[in-house]
Amino acid sequence: MRSELERDFERFKRELPRDFPDHVRAAYGVDLTARYLGETVPHPIGKGSGQLSLNGGQLEDDAAAGLAFVVLKTVIAEDEAGAQSMAAWAIHETRMKVERRESGAGRAGWTVTWKGRGWDRSLDEYLALLRAGRELTRASRLLVVPSVKYHLPRLAEAFRDPEYRYTTARLAEAWREPPLLVEKDFSPTLAGDALAGERAQIVRWLRDVPERIRAASPLPVRLAVKLMNARFDDAFQIEMMDACRGADALVCFNRLFDTEQGVAYGGWDLSDRNLRVLDIAPAVRPGLTGTGNICSGRMILEYARGGCESVQLHTFFQVPLADYPATQGSRTQRALHALVFHPEDGLVAGMLELGARGALERRGGELHFLDVAARAHRQS
Ligand SMILES: Cc1cc2nc3c(=O)[nH]c(=O)nc-3n(C[C@H](O)[C@H](O)[C@H](O)COP(=O)(O)O)c2cc1C
Repeated sequence: MRSELERDFERFKRELPRDFPDHVRAAYGVDLTARYLGETVPHPIGKGSGQLSLNGGQLEDDAAAGLAFVVLKTVIAEDEAGAQSMAAWAIHETRMKVERRESGAGRAGWTVTWKGRGWDRSLDEYLALLRAGRELTRASRLLVVPSVKYHLPRLAEAFRDPEYRYTTARLAEAWREPPLLVEKDFSPTLAGDALAGERAQIVRWLRDVPERIRAASPLPVRLAVKLMNARFDDAFQIEMMDACRGADALVCFNRLFDTEQGVAYGGWDLSDRNLRVLDIAPAVRPGLTGTGNICSGRMILEYARGGCESVQLHTFFQVPLADYPATQGSRTQRALHALVFHPEDGLVAGMLELGARGALERRGGELHFLDVAARAHRQS
């Protein structure tokens, strides 16, 4: 199988077949089926919300490449009059810098430095993008999900329900068929903001926000909460996961915040922290999706061992072209090629190795990706 994998890796450098999960199943007996927000997807690799899900062209490329799902850029909620209490997050910034960042332990990884925040155009423009995404989802080409940042009050304040109601109703109108799938972002810049300086305040948000979104929606909602890396210890990350029981899925965890430079960052510090927390997280919780420094299939399996049923990437779609082994195709295709077919670090190689070691059993003659997440915490 190893030589077959090397052959596939070589030939797919020129073009990755869109139905590669079928090929992986037939050729290697590996079932890559995964889950995001309760939806079954053909494999675990999706795109995290951000600068790479801002327009229809990006969605088309992702659908053509065979990406499993895309979370649209985070839109800032507004009320009927267009007022946004989180307007400080709707700022315009186009420049991104892809750079090397060394972790505390001295390991060099990639990070994207960017001073922008949320969607900076109108809600109507966002809804047009969501409708384009819905067309792709209805055609079974790509699951596309919106992301929102809603009002977050201080402890003594009430939630501004008109923002929740108006924005969610507009999203539901564009979405049409229930359930409405939404991701709620708690971002790294929020973690760095004075608003998130108090633990009790964060815990209240996580406890109450899912209920507010459900109450605001004219359609039944399936909600993923993208948790931030708060400026507190690992135990508090677990407390945040516990507080957020009202969500249907948790995205673990958004980027770290560098208070000195005033920017969010990723790299190995991010994956080290995320995996450390997932390792001690209790087994009973909503479905998990991993995010942070996922640059190889092996790293996808690390997150799966922490209980994640899928993953969301941003940085690996932005590394220099010379860093992808593929020689042709879109960035999404080149990234998928390396993540799935790399003969040493790819997902197929990692799954076969788990099987060979007896760490993963075949069922119906196949190794199943979702079994890795299902086994998480069971051995420990
Ligand atoms: C430039 C940039 C913009 C981002 N914008 C958002 C955003 O608007 N909403 C969100 O939930 N996450 C946002 N993210 C976080 C990514 O979706 C992702 O979770 C995070 O970068 C960790 O994954 P990575 O290490 O693969 O980049 C952004 C990340 C980057 C690099």
